[in-house]
Amino acid sequence: MERLEAAGPNAEQITYWNEQGGPKWVEFQEQLDHHLAPFGRVVMDRLAVSAGEHVLDVGCGCGETTLELARRVGPTGSVLGVDISSVMLARARERARDVRNIQFRIVDAQTHAFAAASFDAIFSRFGVMFFESPTAAFANLHRALKPGGRLGFHCWKSFPENPFMAVPFFAALQHVPPPPAPPPHAPGPFALADPDRVRGILVAAGFAEIDFESRTDPMDVGATLDEATDYAIQMGPASIALRDAGAETVAKVRASIREALREHRTPGGVRLGTSSWIVTARRL
Ligand SMILES: C[S@@+](CC[C@H](N)C(=O)[O-])C[C@H]1O[C@@H](n2cnc3c(N)ncnc32)[C@H](O)[C@@H]1O
Repeated sequence: MERLEAAGPNAEQITYWNEQGGPKWVEFQEQLDHHLAPFGRVVMDRLAVSAGEHVLDVGCGCGETTLELARRVGPTGSVLGVDISSVMLARARERARDVRNIQFRIVDAQTHAFAAASFDAIFSRFGVMFFESPTAAFANLHRALKPGGRLGFHCWKSFPENPFMAVPFFAALQHVPPPPAPPPHAPGPFALADPDRVRGILVAAGFAEIDFESRTDPMDVGATLDEATDYAIQMGPASIALRDAGAETVAKVRASIREALREHRTPGGVRLGTSSWIVTARRL
């Protein structure tokens, strides 16, 4: 399998997305795509991705959004999916093996020399919060857009505003100590939570017509209580708190998370709240 060397400004993230995060995202790919699909599609709608366009999918992961973008641009358009995780890209390539208008490349979107002014639109579903230097990364993406080209991405608001992560995390903390808090704005799911900071980053990177759409959407985290509990134990902040826990502690945490999720059951499955931004901008 082609592998990106863990070097350069995002070396830590390259290691993380190949050794820890990536394998879990591959394992839970179907479930993740089920609950994240609406988040990607609404950004594609805002970007008005249309037939014949050339689109970049940043941090495309296991390729669900790349496939949907390819469907929208049709046979006269094309999509390039880029990611630093070879395990996730391997899954993406397998899923898209019969699709002719998709290419994948294992590169760091912050530093890769994309062909200048080559994309009509740049899209990302939760794949742009992990850059060591967001300003350098967005400036690099800005260069890759054609004049008039559009940027659109989905990113999370802060941790406490996202019960889908906070509910299992606080249930886990009944039995394990909290992991050390990351420094403010550190690369990670909440790095772009502050719209004033993100606006400053995008202006410095050269973007105009910057817009933030505030979203609060429900997320279905599992069809059953057991499925939702398994997911919470393996993914997200609760799993980080459990990194060094023994089997007995994991069992206690599982019971507490299951109990905490119980009150979020709906006829359609276990449903928790999310809050996020859809950010759109343009290269003039
Ligand atoms: C939260 S996952 C989202 C994956 C995918 N967009 C989805 O919604 O299923 C973040 C993705 O960003 C990728 N990523 C992180 N830093 C990156 C970088 N500097 N360049 C390209 N991809 C990156 C990770 O490998 C991972 O696939």
